[in-house]
Amino acid sequence: MCWRSCFVLFDPFLPGMEQSIEQTTEVLLCLSPGEAADLKEGINFLRNKKTGKDFILYKSKNRVRACKNMCKHQGGLFIKDIEDLDGRSVRCTKHNWRLDVSTMKYINPPGSFCQDELVVEMDEENGLLLLELNPPNPWDSEPRSPEHLAFGEVQITYLTHACMDLKLGDKRMVFDPWLTGPAFARGWWLLHEPPSDWLERLCQADLIYISHMHSDHLSYPTLKELAGRRPDIPIYVGNTERPVFWNLNQSGVQLTNINIVPFGIWQQVDKNLRFMILMDGVHPEMDTCIIVEYKGHKILNTVDCTRPNGGRLPEKVALMMSDFAGGASGFPMTFSGGKFTEEWKAQFIKAERKKLLNYKARLVKDLQPRIYCPFAGYFVESHPSDKYIKETNIKNDPNELNNLIKKNSDVVTWTPRPGATLDLSRMLKDPTDSKGIIEPPEGTKIYKDSWDFEPYLNILNAAVGDDIFLHSSWIKEYFTWAGFKDYNLVVRMIETDEDFSPFPGGYDYLVDFLDLSFPKERPSREHPYEEIRSRVDVIRHVVKNGLLWDDLYIGFQTRLQRSPDIYHHLFWNHFQIKLPLTPPNWRSFLMHCG
Ligand code: FES
Repeated sequence: MCWRSCFVLFDPFLPGMEQSIEQTTEVLLCLSPGEAADLKEGINFLRNKKTGKDFILYKSKNRVRACKNMCKHQGGLFIKDIEDLDGRSVRCTKHNWRLDVSTMKYINPPGSFCQDELVVEMDEENGLLLLELNPPNPWDSEPRSPEHLAFGEVQITYLTHACMDLKLGDKRMVFDPWLTGPAFARGWWLLHEPPSDWLERLCQADLIYISHMHSDHLSYPTLKELAGRRPDIPIYVGNTERPVFWNLNQSGVQLTNINIVPFGIWQQVDKNLRFMILMDGVHPEMDTCIIVEYKGHKILNTVDCTRPNGGRLPEKVALMMSDFAGGASGFPMTFSGGKFTEEWKAQFIKAERKKLLNYKARLVKDLQPRIYCPFAGYFVESHPSDKYIKETNIKNDPNELNNLIKKNSDVVTWTPRPGATLDLSRMLKDPTDSKGIIEPPEGTKIYKDSWDFEPYLNILNAAVGDDIFLHSSWIKEYFTWAGFKDYNLVVRMIETDEDFSPFPGGYDYLVDFLDLSFPKERPSREHPYEEIRSRVDVIRHVVKNGLLWDDLYIGFQTRLQRSPDIYHHLFWNHFQIKLPLTPPNWRSFLMHCG
């Protein structure tokens, strides 16, 4: 039986929905790693030999922009513009229109024409793909003009991290509820104290959107509380290749109304309210973002997407919210050896955070939302054993980003505090209106100062003594189930205590992924090598339940060394995204072990 058959598929509320077409991506051109490396700075003319279609790529430092080689006027072919001394423009062979490919704007005729850009993606081995999203701006279908909003008609309340509670007329919608318990095994904890009525708020929602499967967005501890009260709460997720709720059955959480919706199609909730889920250009297999529209006013939530909708997003929305903080990776804090000195790591983190801050500020400036809110970065590594990560994994300050935005644009910014409510109508009318944002009452606790670690650590610890680990053949069973091989990499896996010292009696073994063998010694051939030390409770919990390795890597539960110092994308991508959907069959394994 197909796993999806257990879900209720979306049933549009209003007629006319079937006129929309689901957004798809088409690969128009693939460049091998060698061809991608050979791209010269400036303009490159390329042809797909199979289809005979022509493309123009403009390379500037590390950024590549691309479009079809087809003039917007009457489809003429562009050639090098010999009058262009800067090497940025091309000229149409038909009627001499000129296009600046560094900006994708036409120079002649001057004014408003822009060339439609293609999505440029790097594949797993540093090749390049040119993708066309079709339709590129699906939110433009069946457009609506903004109507008058009464004060209080649209209210957005921040709860925690990436969780917003939206009142939209007489409907309530909640984004990404993580309100209790940890995320990523035991690595992430809530920074903000959620409003005390969070469960009431969730129970009152008409719909909940969950952007992706990461546990700071899909929080089973939170959903468990909710399901206890409203198992039939309508939840909406995008139709990602790795299903958001791939692990629902195993989680033990009883939710009966999960709806998977296609990308790029308006989902009509009532006559005033609709929403559209879009895919991420970098992680289309698992990540999504959303546009909510009420009476023609758009709210854009790009959540964690690296390149939401391939970089094409609606401009001048009423409210935009996005991530901003950084720090959602084990790199480089959990690495050691070679260049990974404390000084190098600190410099790297500082530079990366600054880059992210500038990127977000530029994105907001380009998209010109009326109001912008940085969110989805309010977590802390509060377990005492993660003190080192907490101290080194510096995150961006939302106020710093907002100040940068305000300096460069007239976008209104909102740094949310838990329980604070933004009245969209008031803020659109007059951003200085003192009732535009209602802060939580004086004396409300904003930051958490204690976390209930024990029950969650107990769950992880329960895996340590599981019977499967009495038999060393679990290693072969697990990695065979995982299905990653034919790749020249040798990994040493070491089970550790809290401080990443070998766990007494724990496993310490080699996996050769070239032939999926488990040698006693490293092989004599040339091979890349990684050493992965993992806290025994977390690795055994992950192994036992067939979970993704995000819990280990993003949750800071490993320490890594690698030689040479290269990122094995195929390996990590497999264990973080592509593991089988059903867990290993340990019952059968134990029966065979006798
Ligand atoms: S087709 Fe390009 S200028 Fe007319």
